[in-house]
Amino acid sequence: MQDRLLIFDTTLRDGEQSPGNTMNSQEKLRVAKQLETLGVDVIEAGFPIASEGDFESVKEIAETIKKSQVAALARANFEDIDRAWEAIKYGAQPRIHTFISTSDIHLKYQLRKDRDEVLEQAREAVKRARSYTSNVEFSAMDATRSDRDYLCQVLTTVIEAGAATVNVPDTVGYAVPEEFGALIRYIREHVPNISQAVISVHCHNDLGLAVANSIAAAVNGARQVECTINGIGERSGNASLEEIVMILRTRKDVFPVDTGIITEKIYPSSKLITSITGVSVQPNKAIVGANAFAHESGIHQDGLLKEKLTYEIMTPESVGIPKSSLVLGKHSGRHAFRDRIEALGHTLSDKELNLAFKRFKTLSDMKKDVYDEDIEMIIMDEVYRVPEKYRLAYINVVCGNMTIPTATVRMEIDGHSFQDAGFGDGPVDATFKVIQKITQTNSRVVKFYVNAITGGTDAQGEAFVKLEEDGATVIGKGVDTDVVVASGKAYVNAINRIEFVKRKKFERV
Ligand code: KIV
Ligand code: ZN
Repeated sequence: MQDRLLIFDTTLRDGEQSPGNTMNSQEKLRVAKQLETLGVDVIEAGFPIASEGDFESVKEIAETIKKSQVAALARANFEDIDRAWEAIKYGAQPRIHTFISTSDIHLKYQLRKDRDEVLEQAREAVKRARSYTSNVEFSAMDATRSDRDYLCQVLTTVIEAGAATVNVPDTVGYAVPEEFGALIRYIREHVPNISQAVISVHCHNDLGLAVANSIAAAVNGARQVECTINGIGERSGNASLEEIVMILRTRKDVFPVDTGIITEKIYPSSKLITSITGVSVQPNKAIVGANAFAHESGIHQDGLLKEKLTYEIMTPESVGIPKSSLVLGKHSGRHAFRDRIEALGHTLSDKELNLAFKRFKTLSDMKKDVYDEDIEMIIMDEVYRVPEKYRLAYINVVCGNMTIPTATVRMEIDGHSFQDAGFGDGPVDATFKVIQKITQTNSRVVKFYVNAITGGTDAQGEAFVKLEEDGATVIGKGVDTDVVVASGKAYVNAINRIEFVKRKKFERV
């Protein structure tokens, strides 16, 4: 019988605080519900002291989610811990997650404290959290660059003070698997009261080793891993949940642990994150990338036709990738549409379904076959939008090789209509310039690209615009059968996201 490895998902905290992955509270709640369906043991919902918005969102998630534990992050001080508890205290299974750095580098340059002071602060923080709940996690930030014996001393102290979980973060993604596994073993051998706590790990991916390090830790006795959907997170991200789970599932023969994740919900969860944030995963990403189960080589295809085992180590169905991609058309009704949406992992309210269905009808009049990718885009466009200060009413462009590209744009700003026209270096450039003029915004386009989301000349264009303004970077996405209109929509989606980020202004850990 294999041991259970607890899955602690930090998509909504470490993931959400990374550039381009900002979500509003409605989106966060949707993600939390999906994580609960996926079967994660702990959902880290946010950092309540960071802002009023974070506090409210953690509170709402804690009070909604029943099956997973909901954790709130707090630095090792009373104010943070009290605020974290305030946010989660009415939850079904609340957890306080408090942290402080233990490496000499962080102590000297960041905290400006000595080892004794940090030890004392960690003890007092855990005692404070423990006065509220027995479900307390302590993280020794930058553990992998900390002196091993000091790290063990801190962990012994916090367990004595009541921590039920002790987390060993590789905060800067510096560790390599053998060494990290050995560190976990060392902790097990040198922390006398370690049997009273669960050992957790939290690996960042700066050297591309976050998943390998997490697995090495599990082999050496860690029984909780912290990870995110699609591996999103600070810098190069966190360990990817789907990779850890599928490694353990596929190689049951070599690993001593398994998880409680319902693997068929992995793909819909990944899709939900990309459709909310607009940040796609790379096509060759393991498990959830567009090519993860695509076999191009003739030899592979031949083998697969004869026997799937030849080149398939896990099935697409086992991670929830829908069997066929061709779905609906002009004659499909609301019922079929709802069924397909559910198969793709989305649960919509009646109002949301109506909005999406209306758009589907318009699209199916223009396009013969409507694919899953089209439906995902409709949901993203109609349902998962940030609050909209700016709305695009229409775009009209004149372009060709014998004219100056010109765009005429009408927009609504806070409900009032404005229109203008202007030239550019192409129809998209002209459109962006006019939108900028009308909205009097000042963002810089960092990146812009358009994909055809399905095959054929009637395919929908999916446009992405990455904008930067005052240090905030966001990605906007827009979809339309006309690529210039899709680009305009993406631009407007991005300026709405910038507006949202400006209002949110949260502190990063
Ligand atoms: O990377 C890190 O060390 C963290 C801690 C707050 C756990 O995110
Ligand atoms: Zn982290």
